[in-house]
Amino acid sequence: MAENVSIPAEGSVKEKVELLIPQLKALTEDEPDLIANMGNIASALKEAFDFFWVGFYRVDGEQLVLGPFQGPVACTRISYGRGVCGTAWKQGKTLVVPDVDQFPGHIACSSRSRSEIVIPLFREGKVCAVFDVDSDELDRFSETDAFYLEKVVSLLKF
Ligand code: SME
Repeated sequence: MAENVSIPAEGSVKEKVELLIPQLKALTEDEPDLIANMGNIASALKEAFDFFWVGFYRVDGEQLVLGPFQGPVACTRISYGRGVCGTAWKQGKTLVVPDVDQFPGHIACSSRSRSEIVIPLFREGKVCAVFDVDSDELDRFSETDAFYLEKVVSLLKF
């Protein structure tokens, strides 16, 4: 598989994701290394949507540890139940946060982050990682964004 992905410059989240998914599927399906696949998915989404920060945290015992990401340097470890990421892990559900300043315990890795979405990822019914996207715009993420971002990260096989 050629390691290139044509990044859609225009279109709705649905249109962009529908163009990205077959390409990312082809890029990742024969590659067993999770870190490599997380890296390419983070890169493609950062380019397609110009998110401020996009990446993964992996469960390591009672903490999340920073995984592949695109964007500014971020917090390395987050405890279970802490911040948006640790809460999405604890609750086992996607969290869309329109204003991070209104989320109790939000962890500000960057003061520029204004809104956020975190999607938990599961292995054998347990959360094994979270996918985190930050925007420097307030209220950047809708339930539609959540739906399509979930589709992209569901390409990862744990
Ligand atoms: N804001 C997150 C921390 C991770 S960074 O945004 C990359 C949180 O509250 O869990």
